[in-house]
Amino acid sequence: MTTKFDFDESWLSASTLIAWPFSKIEIKGAEHLESTLEKEFLLYKESQPEGENILSFEVIQDNSIILDGFKIEEKNNKVYVTALKPEGLIYGFFHIVRAYQKNEKPELAILSNPKNKIRMINHWDNFDGSVERGYAGRSLFYSNNEFRLQDERFAQYAKMLASVGINALTINNVNVHQKESYFITDSLIREVKKLADIFRTYGLKLFLSVNYAAPIEVDWTDTADPLDDKVRAFWKETAELVYDHIPDFGGFVVKADSENRPGPFTYGRTHADGANMLGEALKPFDGTVFWRCFVYDNHQDWRDRSTDRARAAYDYYAPTDGDFADNVVLQIKNGPMDFQVRESVSPLFGALRNTNQVLEFQIAQEYTGQQKHICYLIPMWKEVLDFDTYADGPGTTIQDVLVKFPENPERNGITAVVNTGMDENWTGHKLSQANLFGYGRLIWDPSLSAEEIAEEWIEATYSLSEKRNETLLDILMSSWDTYEKYTSPLGIGWMVQPNHHYGPNIDGYEYDMWGTYHFSDRDGLGVDRTVASGTGFTRQFYDENYAMYENVETCPEELLLFFHHLPYSYELKTGKTIIQHIYDTHFEGYDKVLDYQKQWESLKGEVDEASYRNVKERLEEQLRSAREWRDQVNTYYFRKSGVEDAKGRTIYR
Ligand code: GCU
Repeated sequence: MTTKFDFDESWLSASTLIAWPFSKIEIKGAEHLESTLEKEFLLYKESQPEGENILSFEVIQDNSIILDGFKIEEKNNKVYVTALKPEGLIYGFFHIVRAYQKNEKPELAILSNPKNKIRMINHWDNFDGSVERGYAGRSLFYSNNEFRLQDERFAQYAKMLASVGINALTINNVNVHQKESYFITDSLIREVKKLADIFRTYGLKLFLSVNYAAPIEVDWTDTADPLDDKVRAFWKETAELVYDHIPDFGGFVVKADSENRPGPFTYGRTHADGANMLGEALKPFDGTVFWRCFVYDNHQDWRDRSTDRARAAYDYYAPTDGDFADNVVLQIKNGPMDFQVRESVSPLFGALRNTNQVLEFQIAQEYTGQQKHICYLIPMWKEVLDFDTYADGPGTTIQDVLVKFPENPERNGITAVVNTGMDENWTGHKLSQANLFGYGRLIWDPSLSAEEIAEEWIEATYSLSEKRNETLLDILMSSWDTYEKYTSPLGIGWMVQPNHHYGPNIDGYEYDMWGTYHFSDRDGLGVDRTVASGTGFTRQFYDENYAMYENVETCPEELLLFFHHLPYSYELKTGKTIIQHIYDTHFEGYDKVLDYQKQWESLKGEVDEASYRNVKERLEEQLRSAREWRDQVNTYYFRKSGVEDAKGRTIYR
């Protein structure tokens, strides 16, 4: 169906409903969300006008519901959605929409409570309209240092986010430059308020990234020392101003002392000093400070083999456990390096027992094909959330850590760098929508399988025959593995072009200052992170995982070169040598993209023309790029090792 908008309706189009039996809506206690529910209801009702049943929404007291969860019951031809909070009613509503996108007569009765309290996205949008690591066009929010006026699009976006349970967002880049430092001042706060007003209508709380040196940037003082009275006064007055305009403002996200951004270290202070000072300013308004832990030495000398970037966050923050104020939350990337296609989990999960924490994923595909390649990320995120830290004995998964530590966590949850922009389909690559959709669904209910989530997205987005449904499911479900196969092998990471991070450059970061090396020589490759002979990173994990990673025999093979430096002749469990594994996976990965092209062509006529063309074009680029990856990696390792491919395929000399 063609939309009346200049953006696509994502997974929310009423045209994918199989049925909609409701003709009437009743709402009690939904407060500021009442008109949203009414509006949404009408939209879906109009597409299926023949219904007779009543859909009833009510905020009630019910001990079985927690947080912003919801309950749905069916009684006497009426469907009742109940929740403790108005937001829960919205999530219940979209649950029903999804159910009717899947089935004509779905089973609606459910009690659905979110696993994570904070379910957030972070925009990395700059005021000039660019997006850091953005692959879906220009910023949704800004153009040429002005706020965009496109309320309808914002409302649609808010609806997309709310429909999968996302309840908070930041609207600007964690790298906050001079102009964006003014967002929290009198000159721009009214513009921010306009956005907060729109997102509130779908239950989303608005946050801002702030510049730690804002008091200097906006000419208030000449220091950002957290113990300086003038600096403290600046943040207090700033908080008052912001809350004056936006009474339910969420708070601040801060990237400090990270990749050349300012921070408390300049003044010889700790991160607890800096974060708690901001926490104190936000405290009267119950605001939250998200303090990012992406702190490492980005001026490393490649000659130095003892410094290990993977160790950095744990080395600094683990000893600070318990030092942070109760409205300060440490924001920790899922892995210790930086959103690679494969890396270990961050050992900080489980190590911090008395500190609020959120896990940070990257929906934007910076290192996973930049929304030109298909890479469905839910299987990766599931592995992270299901990882057993052993923090409280076996079975303490990362998801458990997020609901367990600190005691009665009030501000824990999950956040992610988002992948949206002004492109008509929101995410550049149509299939990347599945990552945003899936992110929301997964962090609401981490027990869902990656496959179930992919199916939900397909059913909500297209009306495919069963066979084609399977085809698309197969593409999505195999896509992470495929991407990994033709890029860097066995957990090693970083073989990308410097700066923009797209496409292969095997030694691009090898002699650089970022702490991201693979140490390939004529005999072997990999980073030795063992205690026995390497950087000792393995010891940051609890005993069971330490033992598993330390020993090359028990180290999971997909992470073998993340933890060990091994000869090309090392034999994997498949019986293949590492060098043969490299050759094989690179040929296989490329061939799989060829299959995707055929599979996608079989969907012609079943998906809308815009989707068809979008994915077809991007698959051409994926194939071109996969060929480049395959040949550069294979040639590089052939030249280093001199070992021939056992299968005699073409490896360029
Ligand atoms: C990565 C990314 C940067 C970003 C940084 C961060 O290094 O390439 O663009 O600023 O992560 O998370 O702060």
